[in-house]
Amino acid sequence: MKAQLIDGKRISAEIKAEAAEEAAALKAKGITPCLAVVLVGDDSASQVYVNNKKKACEAVGIRSVSHVLSGETTEEALLELIAKLNADKDIHGILVQMPVPKQIDERKVILAIDPKKDVDCFHPVNVGNLHTGGEGFLPCTPAGIIELIKRSGHSIEGKQCVVIGRSNIVGKPVAMLLMQENGTVTICHSKTRNLAEICRGADIIVSAVGKVNTVTADMVKEGAILIDVGMNRNEAGKLCGDVDFENVKEIAGAITPVPGGVGPMTIAMLMKNCNTAAKIQNG
Ligand code: GUN
Repeated sequence: MKAQLIDGKRISAEIKAEAAEEAAALKAKGITPCLAVVLVGDDSASQVYVNNKKKACEAVGIRSVSHVLSGETTEEALLELIAKLNADKDIHGILVQMPVPKQIDERKVILAIDPKKDVDCFHPVNVGNLHTGGEGFLPCTPAGIIELIKRSGHSIEGKQCVVIGRSNIVGKPVAMLLMQENGTVTICHSKTRNLAEICRGADIIVSAVGKVNTVTADMVKEGAILIDVGMNRNEAGKLCGDVDFENVKEIAGAITPVPGGVGPMTIAMLMKNCNTAAKIQNG
């Protein structure tokens, strides 16, 4: 293997240790950071994510409270719960696990959360702050990607960055953060015509599509940095990313594995945002 393996487990542990120090410092001032986690329905993947978030809180010294609601919950009932959590001074962060069942409008849920408690950085006020360089929350997965690149010893400044995928959760915000790090960013998506050619010009590729073999070895420049946000199952049922890891690792300069790359970073950055939320509300 030629490429450096970017170790998301190690880097996320480092960030969680920093978050634990921050949480301890807040507690010393009488502030216990607290995250409310809301899960609607019984989607098994969401249950796993929510449990992992609660476990991370415990490990870092952040209090967490969970609200598990039935899959038949009405939009009105969920919005009422959010209003209660908004008004509760002991709750600093609110996270509603997505996706929500189809009778509930996801956008209304995002708009209902107090921007000061929006630890996902999904609210348009926080998205606007992100775009205009204001202070506050950073979106967890995109900010985790920047940390992975920097903490494994690479700079972004002046680099050609290609983002594949234009979702609100990953593609768009990671493009913005890469630009703020002085990268030159191209955003590609399902209608992009010459993806392979664009990728071949990239120093950094971030793939957030959710499709096996989106990035193959012939699309990668020698020495490029590959960040794989995909979480897919291949034909054999094995967990894998968007990047053809086995072949690309022989050409790339650095690459994230799946699992153990981007995945653990999301929760680590969430812990940081919970501390930020406690600070903002006690500032
Ligand atoms: N569903 C998948 N990823 C996320 C996330 O980062 N935050 C929330 N709230 N829901 C998700």
